[in-house]
Amino acid sequence: MSQIQSVVVRAAAAACAFAVLHPVAQSQPKAPAPLPVVYVKAGHLFDATSDNLRDNVVLVIEGERISKVAPAGEVKIPADAKVVDLSKSYVLPGLIDCHTHLEARSDKYDPINEVKQTPFMGGFNGVVNAAHTLQAGFTSVRDVGSSPFFAVDLRRYIDEGFIPGPRVVASGPALSITGGHGDMNGFAPSVSNMMYPAEKDFAIVDGPDEIRHAIRAQVKYGVDVIKILATGGVLSQGDKPGAEQFTYEEMKVAVETAHAAGRKVAAHAHGTQGIKDAVRAGVDSIEHGSLVDAEGIQLMKQHGTYLVADIYNDDYILGKAVEFGLPQENVDKERMVGRLQRENFQKAVEAGVKIAFGTDAGVYPHGDNAKQFHYMVKFGMTPAGAIRAATQSAADLIDRSKDVGTLEPGKYADLIAVTANPLAKVETLEHVSFVMKGGKVYKDEAGAAK
Ligand code: ARG
Repeated sequence: MSQIQSVVVRAAAAACAFAVLHPVAQSQPKAPAPLPVVYVKAGHLFDATSDNLRDNVVLVIEGERISKVAPAGEVKIPADAKVVDLSKSYVLPGLIDCHTHLEARSDKYDPINEVKQTPFMGGFNGVVNAAHTLQAGFTSVRDVGSSPFFAVDLRRYIDEGFIPGPRVVASGPALSITGGHGDMNGFAPSVSNMMYPAEKDFAIVDGPDEIRHAIRAQVKYGVDVIKILATGGVLSQGDKPGAEQFTYEEMKVAVETAHAAGRKVAAHAHGTQGIKDAVRAGVDSIEHGSLVDAEGIQLMKQHGTYLVADIYNDDYILGKAVEFGLPQENVDKERMVGRLQRENFQKAVEAGVKIAFGTDAGVYPHGDNAKQFHYMVKFGMTPAGAIRAATQSAADLIDRSKDVGTLEPGKYADLIAVTANPLAKVETLEHVSFVMKGGKVYKDEAGAAK
């Protein structure tokens, strides 16, 4: 018998002896304690299963989930029941942002900051940013690109209830080619190599073998989704947004490896050819999509690929980011893609490409996520369509449809309220007055739950 086996046998023997000496009291199996029930009176309800509003609806919430959604006349609310009175408000599912970076701050743009930021600073940023995001009515996010494995840890602490924040669908660091959008360019080799020992293993990868290794390693450490950098970017040094970075073959390996592990792939792609190759390789979403052409749009439709276009970002990058020290190289790149991205977004919307809401929060301040609705409507969507992109469709993209995205029995009680009709004026969503996540109230400006 090996040493380990003998330890196991002795432990089992000790457990038996304990059970004989201390028999468990024979009791009837107890019925589980009833879940707390809350009745939410919704004056107007947008449940995100259609484009319509319904008036005077009651949602019954048992514990964390919705058990019933019905016309007010059909629900008998007991006299002593706990009621959330939103009868003068518009109630919607909690919003979902499919492209955030909760580790990042948006008030420092000098690339040298990357060298200065400790993991502690990134963690502190995450705590603050998660709170701002939840207060803004975003009850779920997909976080696509952070230090290993910030988002996994944040997800855990939020799920434990230790940190208030949105539900997190976590990626690890984004996979980048050497010298690509995710690499530390512009530094001496000694600095660059020393900087990111972990990223070197998990994220800076070339060729099928390194890609497979990095994805398997990320899965091992608990990521929900894989982010790849298919083309160059705007806010990186020394690369071009329009240029393809991973090859089609590399992306195909990334998709096969991630899908085999049950993980979706989000592909950062501004460039025309990189978008098409990523779509053909089978990625689940194109992030940014700035320079997509007619063929790329058709391919996305054919493959059912989501477009997640951060079309508010341009305002902030060309405004505040410049004030906060954004280098000229990045300003020039933004000027190249910003307007085209919005125009091409409209073409994709008109062609019927699937759209999911994602903003790149972290580039601009977390909590301002809803500012993007204005642009989604300005560039071709209806308010209902834009809201469904941030609820029902977003839930589909992040693989959480059975839990979030619509207000139906069985889903988490993740809901928000606004005081004016968001279908008449989508910007209303920039001022959310009530936030509930998993049946727990996190914001209640008008005292609806009193
Ligand atoms: N993270 C992206 C990048 O660096 C931001 C792009 C922002 N610009 C835009 N027009 N969406 O490439």
